[in-house]
Amino acid sequence: MPRILDVHDLGNPSAIAEAARCLRSGAVVAFPTETVYGLGADTFNPLAIDKVYDLKGRPTDNPLIAHVLDEAQAMRLVAHWDDRCRTLAKSFWPGPLTIVLKKSPDVPSEATAGRGTIAVRAPKHPVARALIESFGSPVSAPSANRSGHISPTRASHVAQDFASCDDLLILDGSSSEVGIESTVVDLTGEIPVVLRPGSITLEMLRELMGEIEQPTLRMQAGSPGTSLAHYAPTTRTELIDRAKMPDRLAELSEPALVLARDVTNVRPPHRAIGMPGIAEDYAKALYSALREADASGCIRIVIEKPDETDGLWAAILDRLRRATRDDEPD
Ligand code: TXA
Ligand code: MG
Repeated sequence: MPRILDVHDLGNPSAIAEAARCLRSGAVVAFPTETVYGLGADTFNPLAIDKVYDLKGRPTDNPLIAHVLDEAQAMRLVAHWDDRCRTLAKSFWPGPLTIVLKKSPDVPSEATAGRGTIAVRAPKHPVARALIESFGSPVSAPSANRSGHISPTRASHVAQDFASCDDLLILDGSSSEVGIESTVVDLTGEIPVVLRPGSITLEMLRELMGEIEQPTLRMQAGSPGTSLAHYAPTTRTELIDRAKMPDRLAELSEPALVLARDVTNVRPPHRAIGMPGIAEDYAKALYSALREADASGCIRIVIEKPDETDGLWAAILDRLRRATRDDEPD
């Protein structure tokens, strides 16, 4: 089993110092961020980065996000830091916004899967910040799940996915506040492109930046990790309109685990996990609920599709579609 160190409320500075030492020695450390937990390594150490790919089983063409403390640290990683970057960083950093820019030649190509661009984000979570500060340099980290599995929002989720990794250190900083991964915005072209929707919504970005492109799921080849069939439970999972739920559940003879905001229609042999009605609460609960459903031994997971489509719901729907491989016609 991995080693878990409790760092709730930053009450354990020696644990942060130990984790920073691990990063310095080229080891991998799992740490909490406000979105999901990350599996971190020294951005400037190619061997450490390789370990992240090995541990996760991540395809080597899928680049990592470099986590920084602030704009000054981000500027060390990128070729140019312009007014658009300053505006976004001033508005949303520290926080769940990742910016893709041309990379600096100083960054090893391993840290960007060989790309000429790099994704940078300053996380808000105090433990993530304390770790980066104590380490003194950027930390590259994908979400701390096995590749293709559901992202982790608790230390126990990370421990489940990496149960066989005895030398992995996990910092436990309670459950992630946002619950879904950061918004990824590509600023390498003239018009910003949202590669992955998140809690910094399209509406919030448009207010600041004007025109923004948002490709459909199938078109998001610019960001390999945003291809379909990510974030998926291993149990067969489907997304059903609320109006069609009663008929669908009546049709299913084998027991299903149902994730729904309205659980009144769910009767045996099916079981329900109640989902919150407010988008922020739904996002925060989603991955835990999917993991719980996946571990329940049910034959099928059925998710009631939220009717809303704007703001944070757009990011939630994006994750639900990936979890159920339910592509939109485009
Ligand atoms: O909230 C988050 O972003 C979490 C926490 C740990 O910060 N991290 C995360 O990392 O979700 P990961 O690796 O699971 O997803 C990163 C996404 C992937 O879709 C990846 O393809 C994309 O960002 N990405 C990273 N670098 C990129 C680049 N240079 N160009 C385009 N997309 C990039
Ligand atoms: Mg991920």
